Amino acid sequence: MAKDRVQYVCSNCGRTTPTYMGRCPKCGEFDTMAREVVVSETKTKSGKTRRPVSFNSTPQRIRDIVIDNTMRMKLPLTEFSRVLGGGIVPGSLVLLGGDPGIGKSTLLLSVADMTAKAHGAVLYLSGEESAQQIKMRAKRLDTHADDLYIATETSVSAMVSHIQEIKPVLVIIDSIQTCVSDDSSSAAGSVSQVRAAAAIFQEVAKTTGVTIFLVGHVTKSGTIAGPRVLEHIVDTVLYLEGDQFHRFRLLRSVKNRFGATSEVGVFEMEADGMQEVTNPSEAFLAERQINAPGSSIAITMEGTRPLLVEIQALTSSTAFANPRRTANGVDYNRLLLVSAVLSKRVRVKLFDKDIFANVIGGMTIDEPASDLALAIAIASSNKDKPVHADMAFVGEIGLSGELRAVSQLEQRLKEASKLGFKRCVVPRLQGRRLKNPPEGMEMIPCRSLSEAVDVALIG
Ligand SMILES: Nc1ncnc2c1ncn2[C@@H]1O[C@H](COP(=O)(O)OP(=O)(O)OP(=O)(O)O)[C@@H](O)[C@H]1O
Ligand SMILES: [Mg+2]
Repeated sequence: MAKDRVQYVCSNCGRTTPTYMGRCPKCGEFDTMAREVVVSETKTKSGKTRRPVSFNSTPQRIRDIVIDNTMRMKLPLTEFSRVLGGGIVPGSLVLLGGDPGIGKSTLLLSVADMTAKAHGAVLYLSGEESAQQIKMRAKRLDTHADDLYIATETSVSAMVSHIQEIKPVLVIIDSIQTCVSDDSSSAAGSVSQVRAAAAIFQEVAKTTGVTIFLVGHVTKSGTIAGPRVLEHIVDTVLYLEGDQFHRFRLLRSVKNRFGATSEVGVFEMEADGMQEVTNPSEAFLAERQINAPGSSIAITMEGTRPLLVEIQALTSSTAFANPRRTANGVDYNRLLLVSAVLSKRVRVKLFDKDIFANVIGGMTIDEPASDLALAIAIASSNKDKPVHADMAFVGEIGLSGELRAVSQLEQRLKEASKLGFKRCVVPRLQGRRLKNPPEGMEMIPCRSLSEAVDVALIG
């Protein structure tokens, strides 16, 4: 009978080698080869080969499976629950990534405290901070749950024995990059260590039903450090975004096996921790200056939720041969496209102008539906005419200057109406088709960007 054999697999490109190599021969990445045991195939009586299988599962008819919605652990932090799809799912493995110092530990300590108060024991395992340092943060956040346990630990096997001893409902591991498992001899934080540790935590989560949150560091390019397979292993991937100079932090779900993706929760970083912002549109528009040229309101969708954001633009005569385009919070290429369409189709002269575009509150919007608001802000600044204060904008701009349909128009209009906007410029065909616009909201259907610029600007 054939024996099990060992091979090494590159977690970056999937190349296998029979011996360990420091550098993958295919993709050239260092320290990506992880050890794997290949289970031997066995021969059946008929001579056909068969993979060994486990027989501990019982097939059930899909219609007989009952969904138990009460299973989810709901938290008083509703923004957090919503991003997870309605609460923490027991037995799930969740990865939270984010830039250094953005507030990952702060957010998860609050979550740990709330869960311990409402649902049972929580174990917070930190490989980065001592129990004293965590206690200092806990004091600042006014954390005082009885059932919250803290340990400073980096060994995965010790962590697992703590979990078996305390039997918590939730475990927080801060961070996966500091974990050291016996299955890999590489340094902590290396690809094979991260992968080996994550695989163990996944097994623990699935077999014991405990939910595990893993904190993951983010590389310079903005992805979670470690192998891409980490994102496949876990059930949910969350990113905490925002910049340190702005108060707002956005918790975004990029993968979720138990809820909608690209769902966003908005928080504010305060001295006493992360406070949720239940009405983000209102917060983003709080400091808006009415009747100032160069500002317009976009209604963008973040996951299933409409958000109103202010887009500002400033055009000024350039001192260079090539005018500058600076995009902050909007996609640079979309800024170029929108400026080109404005110059060519609306005759807004921008060839000798520097353009600065900014989204207020540290938000980043990448939805084409906010093209129109960006174009209106640029046109408004260039003509030095303000935009009507009660008007919001939705529409994607095509290269011929036409306005194109967007998704979920009705929901967007409802949100704008809730915040007191009375008029909204929308793509013409879509506006005509929409039978029931929200009460008190006037739709202004426009076919092209030039029509929209005419109705948007005062004077
Ligand atoms: N006393 C304080 N008052 C207000 N804000 C504070 C205070 N102390 C820390 N902060 C905020 O908390 C942030 C650090 O949060 P936290 O340690 O949770 O981040 P992190 O994402 O876990 O960082 P790391 O990647 O280094 O672990 C700081 O950047 C700061 O903005
Ligand atoms: Mg931290």
